[in-house]
Amino acid sequence: MALRTQVGIIGAGPAGLLLSHILHLQGIESIILEKNSRNDVEAIIKAGVLEQGTVDLMNEIGAGERMMKEGFHHEGIILHFDGRDERVDFPSLTGGKRVTIYAQHDVNKDLIKIRLDGGGDIRFEAKDVSLYDLDSDAPKVRFRSKEGGFEEITCDFIAGCDGTQGISRPSIPAGVLKIYERLYPFGWFGILCKAAPSSDELIYAMHERGFALVSTRSPDIQRMYFQCSPTEKLDAWSDDRIWAEFRARLETKNGWAPKEGPIFSKTIIGMRSLVAEPLRYGRLFLAGDSAHVVPPTGAKGLNLAASDAQILARALVAYYKSHRGDLLDGYSATALRRIWKATRFSWWMTSMMHTFPGADEFQHRLQLAELDYVAGSRAGATALAENYVGLPIV
Ligand code: APR
Ligand code: PHB
Repeated sequence: MALRTQVGIIGAGPAGLLLSHILHLQGIESIILEKNSRNDVEAIIKAGVLEQGTVDLMNEIGAGERMMKEGFHHEGIILHFDGRDERVDFPSLTGGKRVTIYAQHDVNKDLIKIRLDGGGDIRFEAKDVSLYDLDSDAPKVRFRSKEGGFEEITCDFIAGCDGTQGISRPSIPAGVLKIYERLYPFGWFGILCKAAPSSDELIYAMHERGFALVSTRSPDIQRMYFQCSPTEKLDAWSDDRIWAEFRARLETKNGWAPKEGPIFSKTIIGMRSLVAEPLRYGRLFLAGDSAHVVPPTGAKGLNLAASDAQILARALVAYYKSHRGDLLDGYSATALRRIWKATRFSWWMTSMMHTFPGADEFQHRLQLAELDYVAGSRAGATALAENYVGLPIV
């Protein structure tokens, strides 16, 4: 069956869902094609830190009610190094801003509900999605629907919001994009456990044995990570071994230790930075993880997806409402300025907090000095805080 829409959106992650809903509020129609089931999109475990601007956006578009009620609103983070804890206070350094801990699958769930309640068209389990005529005025998307038949959608524009494994970026002819990439020589071992929170705020720990992070998901589920080898094996880590590793890396001079509990999920996450430029080919625009990847240390991935969606939505609204193409022409450059700043921040946090293979004692001392400087200087702490709560959109 031949379908038509203004904006064809590939992927129902935060980038695609936010874009679709913002456009809907401005009277612009879209169809989202998502390869996974609704259940999977609402369950997959990913990031969890929302910048102030992402929280504001969710509230502005009417999707923030559960986030405000169930999310944890944090006004700082703890930097843990040299056996001590130093707090970075966000509101006093950033003019009142804070972050909210709320899982990405909950963001997806809330956005899917609001989109479907508003009559939105999301095709879950859309398989074999492929893009055509991207350099024409009528780009097309073909896919196999859940029911099994092939369908085609003719669009004015296509938004590639299909994450790192998507088809949008690879649909751009070879030689158009320049890829900037950095692989880090370590990964994160992530766990979910049943326990009460160990800390009121996230703890970022630097230790000679490697980085560790104490985060949270709910009053009785905690999320924690420790730096591991990228080739680490999950089954080499019993619960006892994991807790011993956390205790060693999080040790403080006053005897504090994380609360332990049954571990019910273990995953290993690779660490890399990647930026593809430009974010456009013809009438295809890339947004979110389809165009860039950051290591999780700065908690920026989800927030960049949200700011890309906002910048792209603004450009599409200017096109449809004011017959202006200049914001679409400028989308890539505008979004990339913010993307590169978040890429720099994530790289910096990663470099400052992790133990690099082969690093010597001199390197370790430099990292300790940098953390001591960041924690002890208002300028240093502000540089961390204003990036962590989120830089302005443009
Ligand atoms: N066809 C249709 N949908 C696809 C395809 C495809 N070929 N490939 C991927 N998708 C879907 C995925 O199933 C997923 O639901 O696109 C969606 C992309 O969502 P995300 O990966 O969440 O990407 P994005 O919306 O850009 O959000 C970025 O995700 O991985 C995290 O750290 C990252 O928090 C950041 C966020
Ligand atoms: C998480 O809770 O999953 C999380 C928190 C902070 C980070 C990365 C991940 O920097």
